[in-house]
Amino acid sequence: MKPRHVAIIMDGNGRWATQRGMPRSAGHVAGAEAVRAVVRAARAQRLECLTLYAFSAQNWARPQGEVGELMRLLGKFIEDEREELMRNDIRLVTIGRIGTIPPAVRAPLEALVRDTARNESMTLCLALSYGGREAMLDAVRTIIDAVQSGDLAADGVGEHTIAAALDTCALPPVDLVIRTSGEQRLSNFLLWESAYSELVFTTRMWPDFDEAELVSALREYARRERRFGRVEPLHA
Ligand code: FPP
Repeated sequence: MKPRHVAIIMDGNGRWATQRGMPRSAGHVAGAEAVRAVVRAARAQRLECLTLYAFSAQNWARPQGEVGELMRLLGKFIEDEREELMRNDIRLVTIGRIGTIPPAVRAPLEALVRDTARNESMTLCLALSYGGREAMLDAVRTIIDAVQSGDLAADGVGEHTIAAALDTCALPPVDLVIRTSGEQRLSNFLLWESAYSELVFTTRMWPDFDEAELVSALREYARRERRFGRVEPLHA
């Protein structure tokens, strides 16, 4: 089986650079190149949705220069990829607290989200200023507002209400989460959505992640038996 939705924790840019005696920023530059290549690879592999953990809610605590460099690379990505996303019929969406992204990057980002909204061959979702706990907190606040305003009955709140209040509500279920760099944790990524996701960890640093590595993770996924808490495998 092929996953519909693959989500990637792109880790190891800093170590990739340090191993080469280069500044961390060089790792992020190489990481942004890997993003371009992997978006292309995901489209070639006919994935329905690719979510990339590009900037976490916790990443704001990094040195100001590094945050600035990551924002600069995001801005450059939006500018450089516009044509490619349109040509390949890829829809761009974001999850996370987008309001905290500096306006100089946010405005072109939102424009590209609008301009690609009708593309249908693949969805590229960038997780920006994203945290799984933060997303759940925002969903809870949305639900409380709906209950307080009388739009929702408190005893009608169920799992579906939470799922519908999350900013991933329109995306397919997350089938596979990949993390690079050898670390084996979720780091506040898609905590609700990954409840039954398969996890694949690779020791490759993110800048070295390529189509062959993606294909290898897809093969690993195909070997897994997904039971969703049942006895018999359930083929989605
Ligand atoms: C983790 O490496 C990576 C990030 C914090 C951000 C990911 C950013 C990019 C891939 C580049 C820009 C993104 C786009 C969409 C153009 P790390 O710095 O935590 O590595 P380390 O654990 O080795 O220090």
